[in-house]
Amino acid sequence: MLVLGIESSCDETAAAVVENGTKVISNEVVSQIDIHTLYGGVVPEIASRCHVEAISSLVRKALEPVGGIQNIDAVAVTYAPGLIGALLVGVNFGKSLAFAAGKPLVPVHHLRGHIAANYLTDPTLTPPFTALVVSGGHSHIVNVGNHTTFTVVGKTRDDAAGESFDKVARVIGLGYPGGPKVEKAAATGNPSAIRFPRTHFADNEFDFSFSGIKTAVINYVHNAQQTGTEINIPDVAASFSAAVTEVLADNATKAAARFNKKLVLAGGVAANGTLRKRLKKECKEKGVQLFMPDLRYCGDNAAMIASQGYYEFLAGHTADETLNAYANMSIEENPF
Ligand code: KG4
Ligand code: ZN
Repeated sequence: MLVLGIESSCDETAAAVVENGTKVISNEVVSQIDIHTLYGGVVPEIASRCHVEAISSLVRKALEPVGGIQNIDAVAVTYAPGLIGALLVGVNFGKSLAFAAGKPLVPVHHLRGHIAANYLTDPTLTPPFTALVVSGGHSHIVNVGNHTTFTVVGKTRDDAAGESFDKVARVIGLGYPGGPKVEKAAATGNPSAIRFPRTHFADNEFDFSFSGIKTAVINYVHNAQQTGTEINIPDVAASFSAAVTEVLADNATKAAARFNKKLVLAGGVAANGTLRKRLKKECKEKGVQLFMPDLRYCGDNAAMIASQGYYEFLAGHTADETLNAYANMSIEENPF
């Protein structure tokens, strides 16, 4: 079965065709990084306009290897969560295309898509497993019962992990996009140079909090400015990354060890080398089997949406022409 995936929830417009949820036939992405860099972060209105400009030719290109929309079996589109104006571009395009071509329309939750990126990387992976989902807006530990059943067992109580990378990047003058820039700076720094706080909760050992680490970095930088001391940017980046990735890896491997001995990493922060290394080490120590997405499927893409769309279709989760986009929606929810 061939599924066309469409993704436009944030700053990447993407279209892809995937066969049977695991085999990528095409995977087209247009990034808006250059334009948002001018403003130091994603400007929602500009993101929507860029999606409108890019989406038609991108979908056409993604369909080329299969000979056009007539050879597609379903159209899957990200409908939540994300920037509402950005989401609406993909939803409206996907809806129009599906109904004009007489194809089923499959709404896909963006974070479910991030998890599905792992089916593209390792087609032998099947639920049940525990997933650590770390993106720009979310940090969750989720138990995945089957391809379309999700239970959140831990989540951030304030900032998302990716968001904290983005904010710290701004504070130490690295700018947007924060995650990759902090990682690059951290590569030459000493992770033990500064001891930033690691937050754990007694009432839920799988929950996260990253605002304390962020504030500690801000205070460290302000103190240095006040005393006229020059900060060592690689050391700050490395010490901050060490603190965030330690908490993420500790909680996630603990959850996987408790629930099903299988851990799946997902989301934009999954590209972080320090996190990947730490997870490998901790999973080995705890006897947990680890799955990590190929680097090209960590950030936003439509192949992961087409993959999850395949499983949603099999579960009967299709929508009609009343489909809407939603800025917020829990990964557990399924309105279809
Ligand atoms: O999943 P994603 O591409 O978009 C959302 O769904 O939010 O995640 C983007 C987030 C951003 O906060 C970005 O800074 C972070 O992922 N990120 C990273 C790295 N690459 C992207 N964080 C840490 N290290 C990276 N190498
Ligand atoms: Zn994402």
